[in-house]
Amino acid sequence: MAQSNKHEAGDLFAGFRTAFKSFATDAIHIGQEPEQWSSMAVVPPISLSTTFKQHSPGNHAGFEYSRSGNPTRNCLEKAVAALDGAKHCLAFASGLAATATITHMLKKGDGIVCMDDVYGGTNRYFQRVAAGFGLETTFADCTKPELLKAALKPNTKLVWIETPTNPMMKVVDIKACSDLVHEHSKDIVVVVDNTFMSSYFQRPLALGADICMYSATKYMNGHSDVVMGLVSLNNDDLNERLRFLQNAIGGVPSPFDCYLCNRGLKTLHLRMEQHFKNAMAAAKFLEADPRVERVIFPGLPSHPQYDLMKKQCTGCPGMITFYIKGKLEHATTFLSNLKMFAVAESLGGYESLAEHPAIMTHASVPEKERAVLGISDTLIRLSVGLEDAADIIEDLDQALNVAHPKKN
Ligand SMILES: Cc1ncc(COP(=O)(O)O)c(C=O)c1O
Repeated sequence: MAQSNKHEAGDLFAGFRTAFKSFATDAIHIGQEPEQWSSMAVVPPISLSTTFKQHSPGNHAGFEYSRSGNPTRNCLEKAVAALDGAKHCLAFASGLAATATITHMLKKGDGIVCMDDVYGGTNRYFQRVAAGFGLETTFADCTKPELLKAALKPNTKLVWIETPTNPMMKVVDIKACSDLVHEHSKDIVVVVDNTFMSSYFQRPLALGADICMYSATKYMNGHSDVVMGLVSLNNDDLNERLRFLQNAIGGVPSPFDCYLCNRGLKTLHLRMEQHFKNAMAAAKFLEADPRVERVIFPGLPSHPQYDLMKKQCTGCPGMITFYIKGKLEHATTFLSNLKMFAVAESLGGYESLAEHPAIMTHASVPEKERAVLGISDTLIRLSVGLEDAADIIEDLDQALNVAHPKKN
C-alpha cells in the first residue's frame, strides 16, 4: 500500500514509489503495546530471564526458555513484520546466522543460485561452508533475468538475490526474477537480502520474493552497536520450518540487542530520508569531480538501473561506490586522509564510513571473481551518514586533494 506522503526533501523522491502507508506509525507502535505488560511500560522492557516459570508442567504463559522465545525479541519481530508488510518475522544473532539458518532448510544435493555480486561473507558461506554440506552454489548476474533462468537446475531449491549489490550497487528486478523462478518451480525459495535498502525503501515480499532478510547490523538498527539478522516472510509453512530451525540451531540475538534494534526502528524513516539526501549531495559532488573516474549511485541518472530503482523502491540508501582516478596508492592515500569519515567495515549507521572493498569487506571473494565484478584497487565504498552534507563533502574534497594534489 502506498500513500501520498509528501516528502520534505523536494524533488529528491520524484519518480520513486510513494512511501509505505503508516510506516512511521507502525514502527513506533506495532508490537509495543503497553497493555502487554502488567506494568504498562510504554517502552518494552529488556527481558533478560533465560527461563520462565510454568503454572504446571507444560502449562506456561507463552514463554519457556529464552532461545525458543523471548518477550523483548517478540516486540522487535512484530514491529519488523509490520514494516516489511509481512505476516511473520524472526530475529537472529547476525545476518550470517540468518543466512545459515535459511540454508539449513536445504538438504545434501540441493542447489543454490546466488547473485554474482553479494556481500563477501555470503559468498564465502555458500562456497566454503554450504559446499561442505553437499550444497551446490551457482553464481549468476541476476540483473539479466535470462542468466538467472539459465542457471536454474532441477535441483535448485534456493535463489539468493541482493539488491542493490554490495559493493557494485547493481540493481536486480525483484518482481521479474521472482516471477521467473516461481514459474520454473513453486518449490524454489526466493530470498532477497534487503540490508542496503531497509524496510523503508524496499519491500521484496510485495514484489514476489518469499523471504526478505537483513543484516540488521546496518540500517535497521542504524547505530553501529548491534550485530543482528532479521527474516520476514508470509508463508506459514516456511515460517514453521524457520521457527523450528531458529530454536534448533540457536543463532538467536540477546534481549539487549533486540531492545536496541527495536529502538533503532523508531527513527528508521527519518534516518533513511537523511541518508538519501546526504548521499545524493555527495554523489553529485563526486560525479562532477575530475579526480574521480566513475560514481555508482542508483539515485543518479547515470546509474544503469536508475529507472528500475525508481520503479521498485521508495528511495535510495546512503551507499555510494566510486573509482578514484589513478592506482591503489591513490585509493589508500584518499582513505588514509579522511578526517570525519572513519575507515571501517560495515555500513548503515548514523556515522559516515569509507572502505576499500578489495582489501577489506570483499577480501574473501576470490581475486579472479573480484576482477570480473570490477572490485579493483581503485574502488572505494562510502556509507554516507547523517552529518551535515557540507561537512561530508568538505571531507571528501580535502582527502581527494591529498590523493591528487593537482586537479587534472
Ligand atoms: C548485504 C549484507 N548482507 C549480509 C551481511 C552479513 O550480516 P552480519 O554481518 O550481520 O552477519 C552483511 C554484512 O556486512 C551485508 O552487508
